[in-house]
Amino acid sequence: ALTVHPDRAGPAIDPTLYGVFYEDINNAADGGLYAELVRNRSFEFGPADNRAYTPLTAWQETAQGGATGTVRVVNDADRLHERNRNYLRLDLAGHGGNGARYGVVNAGYGTGIPLRAGARYDFSVRARTDQRTGTRLTVQLQAADGTALSAPLALTAHGDRWTQYAGTLTARTTTAVNAGARLAVTAEGGGVVRLDMVSLFPRDTYKGRPNGLRKDLAEKIAALKPGFLRFPGGCLVNTGSHRAYEAPDWERQRSYQWKDTIGPVEQRAVNANFWGYHQSYGLGYYEYFQFAEDIGAMPLPVVPALVTGCGQNKATDDPALLRRHIQDTLDLIEFANGPVTSTWGRKRAEMGHPRPFGLTHLAVGNEENLPDAFFERFRQFRAAIEAKYPGITVVSNSGPDDTGTTFDRLWQLNRQDGVAMVDEHYYNSPQWFLENNRRYDAYDRKGPKVFLGEYASLDNKFRNALAEAAFMTGLERNADVVKLASYAPLLADVDSNQWRPDMIWFDSTRSWGSTSYETQKLFMNNTGDRVVPSEATGTPAVSGPVTGAVGLSTWATSAAYDDVEVTAADGTTLLKDDFSAGDAQWTRAAGRGTWSVQDGAFLQSDTAAENTLVTAGDRAWQNYDLKVKATKKSG
Ligand code: AHR
Repeated sequence: ALTVHPDRAGPAIDPTLYGVFYEDINNAADGGLYAELVRNRSFEFGPADNRAYTPLTAWQETAQGGATGTVRVVNDADRLHERNRNYLRLDLAGHGGNGARYGVVNAGYGTGIPLRAGARYDFSVRARTDQRTGTRLTVQLQAADGTALSAPLALTAHGDRWTQYAGTLTARTTTAVNAGARLAVTAEGGGVVRLDMVSLFPRDTYKGRPNGLRKDLAEKIAALKPGFLRFPGGCLVNTGSHRAYEAPDWERQRSYQWKDTIGPVEQRAVNANFWGYHQSYGLGYYEYFQFAEDIGAMPLPVVPALVTGCGQNKATDDPALLRRHIQDTLDLIEFANGPVTSTWGRKRAEMGHPRPFGLTHLAVGNEENLPDAFFERFRQFRAAIEAKYPGITVVSNSGPDDTGTTFDRLWQLNRQDGVAMVDEHYYNSPQWFLENNRRYDAYDRKGPKVFLGEYASLDNKFRNALAEAAFMTGLERNADVVKLASYAPLLADVDSNQWRPDMIWFDSTRSWGSTSYETQKLFMNNTGDRVVPSEATGTPAVSGPVTGAVGLSTWATSAAYDDVEVTAADGTTLLKDDFSAGDAQWTRAAGRGTWSVQDGAFLQSDTAAENTLVTAGDRAWQNYDLKVKATKKSG
């Protein structure tokens, strides 16, 4: 039976409670949300990204009418830009008769360039030629066997200085999935032609924005109506953050640095993505802010804290590097919010957005598992940000897991310092999600708020969606403590991915939401504004051992509490202990916040308040209506 108490006021639910976490994992950016159709457009792929890559990955030479030549990628002083190191050099032999053409074809991402009959595609290239009369270039969409899928686009390159040439192609047919369509760029005559930034975008990007987003994916995200957009990672953010800052701008495996990702696309750095591929940064901070605005979501960037997590466990001991990253973070806030007269606000305006983006929250770090090293640096970021921008909420985190020493220590530090919000992450079985609906019931109402930045139950089946939905009712019930929550990861290329489960899947042509997507959509589209307290009785028992339960604040040791009593609904005392310091009966169990006593009862509670969920030992979940009373020691 369900008893509803409309007369009692539950916590208010912020409209931003449910949001999305976008990370460039599973090819989420290049070949995913970023609508660019040419793979390796700038010839920057290489073994630094992935051992299988070369600067000619996705490219092949092509010749017609007896033309010959050579094609190679060059990295020399003739480059397009200091940060855009490589370019393609075509040495044309000038062989063949009329219509003889030599050049390259690009295979696109996945299994070919997806085309829709009648749709327009914007082509552009940077080119230069040593031919005094210019070099005629022909651009065409082709099937895998070379059959034309568009009319040829003729462009003439003039002069031996980098110049952009552009035009539009219209597709004649809709390509089937995995059809292997490609883009051909060929040149006529002899001499040397150099090409770079070979680009093809569907005209029909999300909201028609140039350098824009793939429409079906952006629309699926928008349909969720997310309250916020956390970006760009995840582990991606901290990659390489221990490297010396003297490393040249183009050097790969730097940490994700937002300044690398703004400005003209041909001048943006490229990087090796933590997840084993190349990232062009064509989808960068400006585009993320713009997307957040377009979908009505609060932007929530994550910057590296100079302590790597995600298996690397290194902390930078370089005060100058730390100072620079802190300054970069202040500059990021200026980029988002500053007036057009400010240095970074002007850059935002130059990119097309004079109005501020309205940044209010910013996270420093992701899953650091050197808690003290992280926190020491976090403190410095926070102090600098709060001194200059007191209105910004600086979000900390609780490490890579929802239990264990790192988690405990980070929560302790976050609490001690009065941090406003802590980012928690966990990936667990559906069973765990069912059993932990009450995880936040016991969180300290006076401590930091929770940003549940990453969670998912471990599959994409109906059961997972159901377990997550059940769990989300617990988030909502605790909306006074849980302020933001996002499932993770958001996007995954079905043909190349590093993490499962995921919320939205895609190939080069299609996309579809998982069962978890439907749960997220349901909750995000129907977020209430206030919790109406209710109780259920007679709910079926959930079998399985209790794991990872939330409990007494882990630093609330027996020295701080006494007189802990657990009673069943009928008044039977199940557990009574004075919880005194040194009491051998109380031992810390493996899970965070899960405390055990020798008689086998687990206690899941917090503070001196009465709470109503406890379970017994390693016995199956009983769904007892239990009461816990833990009295805080005075003084
Ligand atoms: O969501 C995938 C990864 O999970 C994130 O990059 C990281 O933060 C977490 O470990």
